[in-house]
Amino acid sequence: MRVAGRLAASVLEMIGEHVEPGISTGELDRRCHDYIVDELDCIPAPLNYSNAPNQPPFPKSICTSVNHVVCHGIPTESKLLKRGDILNIDITVIKDGFHGDTSKMFYVGNPSTAARRLVETTQECLYRGIDAVMPGATLGDIGHAIQTYAESCRFSVVREFCGHGIGRVFHDAPQVLHYGEPGTGMALQEGMAFTVEPMINAGRRFVRLLPDHWTVTTRDRKLSAQWEHTILVTESGREILTLRHEESHR
Ligand code: MF3
Ligand code: CO
Ligand code: CO
Repeated sequence: MRVAGRLAASVLEMIGEHVEPGISTGELDRRCHDYIVDELDCIPAPLNYSNAPNQPPFPKSICTSVNHVVCHGIPTESKLLKRGDILNIDITVIKDGFHGDTSKMFYVGNPSTAARRLVETTQECLYRGIDAVMPGATLGDIGHAIQTYAESCRFSVVREFCGHGIGRVFHDAPQVLHYGEPGTGMALQEGMAFTVEPMINAGRRFVRLLPDHWTVTTRDRKLSAQWEHTILVTESGREILTLRHEESHR
């Protein structure tokens, strides 16, 4: 899991310099796919992935979610990034059967003050959720830490999607909700691995699933942001398996 996590993080480190006005999300997908397969000798987990019987397989190797897209945006040649956009790139690699899952937000050019505030607040939600992880804490402690911070900033927490157990299986039990009450839910134990991946909306929390059966947007078309790490519960607290160099202070 440490190897898979580090490799997933390296894809986000690689792709940053390519996030520029005019590039298509399809090209970002191609660059990540080639890097994952040719350089890392990994499998891109999203490609052909499906979780539900009535859901078509995901057609690309990464998720690219721009502006009001909450998650699971499908990269295409026709979606060109423009100045002022905010973009989530979500990477999941499989190395020797183990999954590493992580995402971060990117700015295309300079963001508006409102967009920057949403993106920075959402990253702080992720870190507060992660800081709640330790043996003896509960899943509800994680959700509560995220929800109280997001709502104190007058943002809303998406309820329909959550973090997840991860290992040899991409989306395993337990569900890691990004809202909740302290002291409720499963108690955390050393050796557990799961993701924390809050989706935070600038407006109301409600979402819409597009007819492609994957793309999730905000109902009110206001901005949404997401950040994700894969976390291991350790004896003394937690280890962030998908930490990037830019976060090495954590
Ligand atoms: N990486 C996403 C997550 O954090 C899941 C993407 S599933 C896909 O759980 F099929 F859309 F790629
Ligand atoms: Co995930
Ligand atoms: Co992910």
